[in-house]
Amino acid sequence: MSRERLRLAMQKSGRLAEQSLDLLRSAGLTVNKGANELLYRIDNAPIDVLRVRDDDIPTLVADGVADLGIVGLNVLEEREANARAPREVMRLGFGRCALKLAAPEKASYAGPHALDGVRIATSYPHILARFLDARGVRAEIVHMHGAVEVAPRLGLAQVVCDLVSTGATLEANGLSAVETVMHSE
Ligand code: PRP
Ligand code: ZN
Repeated sequence: MSRERLRLAMQKSGRLAEQSLDLLRSAGLTVNKGANELLYRIDNAPIDVLRVRDDDIPTLVADGVADLGIVGLNVLEEREANARAPREVMRLGFGRCALKLAAPEKASYAGPHALDGVRIATSYPHILARFLDARGVRAEIVHMHGAVEVAPRLGLAQVVCDLVSTGATLEANGLSAVETVMHSE
C-alpha cells in the first residue's frame, strides 16, 4: 500500500498513550493535536498518528490501515495466538508490566493444578489457554473486555488473569498475584 504519509497507530488513552507521544517528541517530531482526537499530525515529518484502542492496533497494522503501531507485547501476543499478527520490529522499553493470575487474598494457592475446574476471568483468553495447556490444567476461561478485577466479587470467576503494573488495582480489589503468565512492555 502506498500513501504519502506514514500512519502510526497508538493508544488513545491508557498506560501507553502519553509515553508513546513522548517518544515521538523525544525524536524531535512536533505533534499537532489539531481538532480531530482520532488523528494527530506530525508537522515536521510525513507521519499521521492514528489514536485508537490498544486492542485494535494489531488489526489495523495487519490489515495495512496503519504502517506501524505502538502496542503492548501482551496485546500483540494475544493476537498472535489467535490470528495473523504484525511482526514485532522493535522493543521500546517503556510501560513495563506483567500478566498475572490473581486470587482473593484468603484463598490458598498450591500451584497451577489448584486451577483445575476453576473459572478464570481475563481479557487474554488465548495467552491464558496456552499457559494452562502447557501445564495440563483444565480451567474455564471467562472472557471479559474490561473490569476483570471485579469478577471474583461478582461471583463470575474465582481467579483473574490480568495486567499488573503498580499492583494498585489488585490491592484495591482484595486480590493477590499467584503466578506470572508473561512479562510485557
Ligand atoms: C490494566 C489492568 C488493570 C490495571 C493494572 O489495564 O486491567 O486495570 O492496568 O494496573 P496497576 O497494577 O498499575 O493498578 P490497562 O490500563 O492496560 O487498560 P486496558 O486493558 O483497558 O487497555
Ligand atoms: Zn486495552
